[in-house]
Amino acid sequence: MEIFKEIKPLKAFLSQKWGLVSIGLVPTMGALHAGHLSLIGASKLENQLTICSIFVNPAQFNNPKDLEKYPRTLDLDLSLLESAGCDVVFAPAVPEIYDHDSTISFDFGHLDKILEGKFRPGHFSGVALVVSKFFNIIRPSTAYFGQKDFQQFKIIEKLVNELKFDLHLKRMSIFREADGLAMSSRNMRLNGLERKKATVFYESLAAAKKLLTQGESISKVKEFVAQKCESVEGIKLDYFELASAENLKITETVTTETVLLIAGFIGEVRLIDNLLMNENE
Ligand code: PAJ
Repeated sequence: MEIFKEIKPLKAFLSQKWGLVSIGLVPTMGALHAGHLSLIGASKLENQLTICSIFVNPAQFNNPKDLEKYPRTLDLDLSLLESAGCDVVFAPAVPEIYDHDSTISFDFGHLDKILEGKFRPGHFSGVALVVSKFFNIIRPSTAYFGQKDFQQFKIIEKLVNELKFDLHLKRMSIFREADGLAMSSRNMRLNGLERKKATVFYESLAAAKKLLTQGESISKVKEFVAQKCESVEGIKLDYFELASAENLKITETVTTETVLLIAGFIGEVRLIDNLLMNENE
């Protein structure tokens, strides 16, 4: 496995590959888990070269404490990637990616004003900025992202379409723990009790989907989820919403193309999850 910390040697290496082999890119912020590794596995199946980037991107953290506390486990990440058969790792330091006076920002219209965008202003602009940089540096044939960050995927789809990036995007399904909790690097920050309580988000989504399938009204289901979350000490629900999986517009009608999205705090840790109405659990 080749490890690069700087752009120049990475590009020199890639210049031997561009146009000759298919390159799969899996952008991450490290603290890798089985969800991330499933993206590496998908890329390996479909490409001759798989690159994982590991970069805790300051531009997408609207909360300085969240950035400071974000888990950083580079040595462990590298051994996981080596075992998963990843070919190349790009793990730059912040000054390699950002000039000190970088001011570029993105506006995605309604897509970055709702849901996560409402609770984390500037977050998606920071995601779009760093992902654009990595697309330009690496020029992958295909980039892999998780459904876990559903809204992020929609933003990146729009970014690729609008900026005409010459690559394919793949959305991979959510990897969950045995009790349903969506795998997340932030789960590492939960203590034992919080970890147990964190299942409330997935349980809420699954119960909501069942109720909606049975014909229960959206307002009743929203009330049910709010009460379910409130009943667990230490949980603070930011939102539970239904949206179109196509354009992410908040919806008041349920179809097979509806996605249920939830976000909230458990203690100091903020978690997100989602479930598609047409998804097999
Ligand atoms: P990070 O949270 O490290 O996630 C990297 C990729 O792994 C994302 O595409 C995310 O959706 C996916 N992922 C996370 N948890 C998953 C799970 N349980 N199952 C399947 N896939 C999962 O998302 C980011 O980093 C950053 O915003 C990034 C795109 C790298 C830009 O900085």
